[in-house]
Amino acid sequence: MNMVVQPSDTDKYVRAINASKSVHWEIDRDVIRGRRFDLSKKYLPDGLSLVSEMTTLSAAERRLVSQIQGRTYANMFGLVERFITAKLLEVGREHSLGDQNALEAFVRFSDEELKHQTLFRRIDAMMGEAMPSGYRFDVQPDMVARAVLSKSTWAVLVLTLHIELFVQNHYRQSIEPDGELSELFKDVFLYHWKDECQHVVLDEMEIARHNATLTEKERDVAVDDFIALAAAVDGILQAQATSDAMYFVANCGRAVPFDECEQVRQQILRAYRWQYIFSGATHPRFRAILGAMITGVQTKRIEAALATLN
Ligand SMILES: [Fe+2]
Ligand SMILES: [Fe+2]
Repeated sequence: MNMVVQPSDTDKYVRAINASKSVHWEIDRDVIRGRRFDLSKKYLPDGLSLVSEMTTLSAAERRLVSQIQGRTYANMFGLVERFITAKLLEVGREHSLGDQNALEAFVRFSDEELKHQTLFRRIDAMMGEAMPSGYRFDVQPDMVARAVLSKSTWAVLVLTLHIELFVQNHYRQSIEPDGELSELFKDVFLYHWKDECQHVVLDEMEIARHNATLTEKERDVAVDDFIALAAAVDGILQAQATSDAMYFVANCGRAVPFDECEQVRQQILRAYRWQYIFSGATHPRFRAILGAMITGVQTKRIEAALATLN
């Protein structure tokens, strides 16, 4: 008789610690390595920027869109990692007098997310040296984090899992296979991906632990909180799509007719919704984990809310 022995939680924490140690990297030594960004290569791959749908644009204009979206991509991670770190430090404290492997795993998780925020601030500044002036990313990480952290822990953990899972798909399916990207951009997200692979393991364990403590009523409220968070993310995406479309129009080197400006804005918004909402919401692992925690009615409620964003 074959018996499958499931690893215990402490085994999983030990594995996460070992994985964290084995992939450890430094921003300058491993990622940047004295390199700079230039404008001859794409930054964000077509699979994420969806520039192949922007049929009114020339090849050079599409490359500029991929660079603008790539800069926003780095800034978006810098933004969400503020609340992710704060929430994981909060839930990690619950292990402070218990399993010390769990505590170490969360300390390492937080340390890595702080390093990612530093990396993404550097990347924004470095891209700023290469790109024309006028790019804006005006969302304040602390303000967003305060709003997000006012929602239930369940909703914040589900949003975090969603983000950390789509990071993996983005890298494996779009960034890694695209041979035309800036090597530096590619390396930034290679090293980020290495850390996020083990973060997902901790996210899943923490959600399961927290989910088991909720009453049905509390979980139902948390589902509404998750929907509110998705709507808040969309509000940020709408503002940034408008800002990035205006920056494109100001720097693409030709007079863009009004209708085409609006079309570019809508196409960028569609790409951002794909990147930050739908590529995660349709991720099979995310659907499986979420589906196992909530009722069919609650699943439909989430799907109906997300459908309004199309
Ligand atoms: Fe990260
Ligand atoms: Fe992470």
